[in-house]
Amino acid sequence: MDSILVKGNGPLSGNIPIAGAKNACLALMPATLLTEEPLTLTNAPRLSDIKTMSNLLRSFGAEVSLLKEGLVIAMSSHSLGTVRADYDIVRKMRASNLVLGPLLARAGEAVVSLPGGCAIGARPMDIHIAALEALGATIELKEGYLHARAPLKGLQGERHKMRFASVGATENFVMAATLANGTSVLENAAREPEIVDLVHCLRKMGALIEGEGSSIITIEGVERLHGATHKVVCDRIELGTYMLAPAIAGGEVTLVNGQLGLLTAFCEKLHEAGIDVSEAADGITVTRKNGSVRAVDVATEVFPGFPTDLQAQMMALMCTAQGVCNLEETIFENRFMHAPELIRMGANIEVKGGLAKVTGVPKLKGAPVMATDLRASVSLILAGLAAEGETKVSRVYHLDRGYEQVARKFKAVGAKVERISE
Ligand code: UD1
Repeated sequence: MDSILVKGNGPLSGNIPIAGAKNACLALMPATLLTEEPLTLTNAPRLSDIKTMSNLLRSFGAEVSLLKEGLVIAMSSHSLGTVRADYDIVRKMRASNLVLGPLLARAGEAVVSLPGGCAIGARPMDIHIAALEALGATIELKEGYLHARAPLKGLQGERHKMRFASVGATENFVMAATLANGTSVLENAAREPEIVDLVHCLRKMGALIEGEGSSIITIEGVERLHGATHKVVCDRIELGTYMLAPAIAGGEVTLVNGQLGLLTAFCEKLHEAGIDVSEAADGITVTRKNGSVRAVDVATEVFPGFPTDLQAQMMALMCTAQGVCNLEETIFENRFMHAPELIRMGANIEVKGGLAKVTGVPKLKGAPVMATDLRASVSLILAGLAAEGETKVSRVYHLDRGYEQVARKFKAVGAKVERISE
C-alpha cells in the first residue's frame, strides 16, 4: 500500500494548477442519465472517485470514456438497462446516491443501496427521500436498498422545503424535476458553487431552471433534455488546500485557475490569521512573509460559510499559530479524526463533541500518521510541511479519491513530498 513521505524544509515558491471540482463532476456525471444524447465534460479531475462513478454509470448501460488522460469525460446513455446501484459501489462513495434523481426521472424507477455508516458521521438519506417523495415518487427501504418508483404519468412538479440545505438532496431534486410535469420549487436549497455548475450544465441540456446559487430554485419540467458539452468549475476545496501550503510553510505560491469568489469566508479567515491573498493574472497568489500566523476562531457552515471540507486543513494551520483557536464543526458529527494524528505530531488539541480547541505550539514533529478520510489525509501532509523531521502518511488511497497528482503538485513549489510504494 502506498504512503506519502513529507519532510518540512522551509518556504515554498512557484505555481500549482488547480483541477476541475470533484464534487461538481460527481453531480454532473449522473446528469448523462437524463438524456439519450451525448454529454461531454471538460476540465475533469483525474481521481479514483471519477472512475468509481464511471463504473456505476456503465453498470446502467451508459457508455463512459475518459479521454485526454481523464481530462475529458465523454458519456452517452442512449439506452438504459438495469437501474440498480449495488452496495459494493455505493459503500465506496456516497455520491453514488446522485443517480437516484436522474434514474427516477428518466426510467421511472431506481434501486439504490443506502450508503451505510461513514467515517465522518451517520450521513442518512432522509432529506433526499423527502425531496423525491414530494415529486410523487414512492420510496421503500428493502434489505438495505431504496426502491424508488415514479407515478405512471411521471414525476409531478411540486413545491418542497428541505429541513436542511443538503447539497446532494438539492442536486437529486433539481435533476429529477427537470423532466417532471409542471413546475417544481425547492426552498431552503443548498447554494454551493457545485450546484450552480450543475444547473449551468442542465440549462445547456435544455432544462428550464432559475434561482441557482440562492435558497429558492425553480424548475419548469420539459419533455426531454439534449446533449451538451460543459467545462467543470474549479475545485474550491483543492484550491483552499493548496492555499494553506505557503500559509503553513511560508513563501509565495500562485494557484493557477483559482477563483477567489468561490472561497470568500475561507479567505477572510486567512486574512485575519495574517496571510496575504491576492488575485493574480492567472489565479490567486498566497503569501506568508515573515512573522507568525495568528490563531483565529472558525465555525464550519453551509455555503457561503467556511466549508467543512477545509476544516481539517485549517486545523493543520492552527497547530502552529500564535494563540488559541476554537474550531467548531457544525455540518458533520465525528469529523475530527485527524486531531489524534495531529496530536501524535506534537499538536495541542482538545476535542469535545463538535468543538476543538487548538493551542498553537512553536513547532510540530514528524511522525508516522494514518489518514482516516480524504480531507484528513491532506491535512496531515500540510502539517508535515511545518514539522521537524519526517512525517509518513499511510492509507493514501483516501487521497486518490480527491487530489490528483498530489505529490507532484506539492513538489512543484519545492515541498519535499514523495509517494512511496511498500
Ligand atoms: C457534499 C460534498 C461533501 C461535503 C458536503 C457538505 C459531494 C459529492 N460531497 O456531501 O464533500 O462535505 O456536501 O458540504 O458533493 N444529511 C442528512 N440527511 C440527508 C442528507 C444529508 O441528515 O438526507 C446530513 C448529513 O449527514 C450531513 C449534512 O446533512 O451531516 C450535510 O450533508 P450534505 O449536504 O447532504 O452533504 P453531501 O451531499 O453528502
